[in-house]
Amino acid sequence: MLNNNHIEIIKSTIPLLESAGPALTQHFYQRMFSHNPELKDIFNMTHQKTGRQSVALFEAVAAYAKNIENLGALATAVERIAHKHTSFNIKAEHYQIVGHHLIETLRELAPEAFTKEVEEAWTEAYLFLAQIFIDREEELYQLREKATGGWRGTRRFVVSEKRPESELVMSFVLTPEDGGKVLDYQVGQYLGIQVTPSKADNVEIRQYSLSQAPNGSHYRISVKKEGKGTEQQGLVSHYLHDEVEVGHAVDVLPPAGDFFYQESGKPVVLISAGVGCTPMQAMLQKLAEENKTDPVTYLHACENELQHSFIDEVETIVAAKGWQQNVWYRSPVNLDGSNNSSVGLMDLAQIKDTLPIHFGEFYTCGPVAFMENVVKQLEALGVGRDRIHYEVFGPHANL
Ligand code: HEM
Repeated sequence: MLNNNHIEIIKSTIPLLESAGPALTQHFYQRMFSHNPELKDIFNMTHQKTGRQSVALFEAVAAYAKNIENLGALATAVERIAHKHTSFNIKAEHYQIVGHHLIETLRELAPEAFTKEVEEAWTEAYLFLAQIFIDREEELYQLREKATGGWRGTRRFVVSEKRPESELVMSFVLTPEDGGKVLDYQVGQYLGIQVTPSKADNVEIRQYSLSQAPNGSHYRISVKKEGKGTEQQGLVSHYLHDEVEVGHAVDVLPPAGDFFYQESGKPVVLISAGVGCTPMQAMLQKLAEENKTDPVTYLHACENELQHSFIDEVETIVAAKGWQQNVWYRSPVNLDGSNNSSVGLMDLAQIKDTLPIHFGEFYTCGPVAFMENVVKQLEALGVGRDRIHYEVFGPHANL
């Protein structure tokens, strides 16, 4: 258990952790992957190659150290990370490996500052934090294992349908090979997919939002083809688009994620850009199925009509329910405005009189820069931060 002395030491070594910056994270991951290469099958090796993910773990450890006397401040982050970890099937024994390489990294990079007392304090602090994750993750694993249609670890699913939704987005319907039921999920959550792309050296795990309301028998994910399909970008999405066909099997981890629709009895505004429309499809379907009587508004922005996914699906729901939909194309192909869209970036001031600014709940998903802009616009209109919910694809960013 952490005592006051440990807490003082941890606080006094925060500058050490922060000043080491990228060198620390780079050393840590190199060390860990050379001693425990099996972990390359868990971590996103594309993120490792682009350096995108490396900082997340250390930022979280530093945030923990700073809040060591007020851990409640970290509850939201712990929940998000725990959900992410379960989607990689992270186990208690993995924490020992990470903890070992973390301590050895600190020792190797700062041998003088890393005294016996510092080592003891950091070991205790790490074990304490690790236990918080281990306990919450075990709780999530058990909940999913025991629920109807649930399981733990991977389960084999077959691609039963593959359908393009737009120029860059492809939907995959996944049905369990064992013919059993599938676990329900909260709309907005994602599914973990484990595959070995032909061009990859390792097993790769990725998360994709579930793009359909739960139905008990199968899942649908919708995947954007990213980049050039190299080791640096889009390795898995290119493999799924180009090589995975109907009848192929993939290993699937149970649905997870802390971004999901919560019924509040208030009007709802769903705001997406690009492939950020995927969790919104699940939410729209669910709201329609439940006959939500409060107003629902769907706002979407994308490059042009060719990259606009789920046009018909959304139109069917919106028309049947009499809900509002607004679309912005940054660079439309047809300039005649025939489909009632606006040209340019999403501009909420244009439609502010139609939005439930003072009491609605706002859900947004899309590229980070888009969401930063949306949050800024919503705040300028008077929407409180507590009514804005968002999901970042890939490594998390605070907006
Ligand atoms: C106390 C220890 C740990 C902390 C503080 C921590 C923190 C984090 C954070 C902040 C993220 C990013 C979450 C997000 O983007 O939403 C993350 C992701 C991840 N963590 Fe951990 N983690 C810990 C332990 C572990 C362990 C033991 C493993 C497995 C060996 C692990 C594997 C992963 C993986 C695979 C990801 C996703 C990264 C990617 O996409 O490359 N973590 N973790």
